Amino acid sequence: MAKPAVLVARAIFPEVLGILAQHFEVANNQDDVIWSRADLMARLQGKVGVFTTGSERIDADMLTACPDLKICANMVVGFNNFDLDAMTAAGVLATNTPDVLTETTADFGFALLLATARRITESEHFLRSGSWSRWRYDMFAGPDVHGSTLGILGMGRIGQGIAKRGAHGFGMKVVYHNRSQLDAASEAACGARYVSKPELLKTCDHLVLVLPYSAASHHSIGAAELAQMKPSATLVNIARGGIVDDVALASALRQGVIAAAGLDVFEGEPVVHPELLALTNVVLTPHIASASLPTRRAMANLAADNLIGYLVHGMPLTPLNPQ
Ligand code: DGY
Repeated sequence: MAKPAVLVARAIFPEVLGILAQHFEVANNQDDVIWSRADLMARLQGKVGVFTTGSERIDADMLTACPDLKICANMVVGFNNFDLDAMTAAGVLATNTPDVLTETTADFGFALLLATARRITESEHFLRSGSWSRWRYDMFAGPDVHGSTLGILGMGRIGQGIAKRGAHGFGMKVVYHNRSQLDAASEAACGARYVSKPELLKTCDHLVLVLPYSAASHHSIGAAELAQMKPSATLVNIARGGIVDDVALASALRQGVIAAAGLDVFEGEPVVHPELLALTNVVLTPHIASASLPTRRAMANLAADNLIGYLVHGMPLTPLNPQ
């Protein structure tokens, strides 16, 4: 019997392609060519499954054009590239990769917070440019991280991982805001206290964004929210670009409304707004929060296991819209 046909839309670990090839006829993109939407649509013809990486938009038009599709397996935890309602209506399963990236992503969130607050990249550029001539009492002096107030917007698994690092590792007071309050045991485990969003913005010294992106969270942080923060505050975004209004943020950073920002995600990524690129009080990284090798392997394996689980055994591991 012919194996079911699947498409792997981006380059992945060769060993994961090998595992998929045991079960499927696999078309791949190991050259990592950026396909247009029309290219993706054409390559999806006759495919029952697709391995996506978060940048391929799967919506009603795509589903109508690709009637054989049964499952889209995202190799990321965020799934704002999926129109989940359209997928459910079309009977197409969506899966993502929760849990396996939680600790690695929380590590990175904390690294970006430290780099931003303690001005690590800015001072490295200064040194490399040959500008360092002597020690000075206030050279690159920024705020403290230990003992300060950490604010977290979005308190899922990654938010809780960051809270634990802050409360237990750095003696920080942790406040958070989320759609729903955690139960008392979870709050105690991560040493965090629930507050309203205005209270969060007003009280925190460092704010980390870890909420999912949707129409409801679009521009959750814009000019009005930035104006409520302390002028000494830092903002870290490891969630999705559209959660922050990049133009409003650039203006706030330029005018000293807040002190600094660390950004791993951007509204139009991989294009970064030129006003952000022009600033020195912002640390910019190319969407790498989950990028440790063991974690990226675990994410790829989980996405592959979801394809195999559903198409071969009828049992996906991490479904978003169980069919
Ligand atoms: C995710 O999993 O959603 C991350 O953004 C990928 O790095």
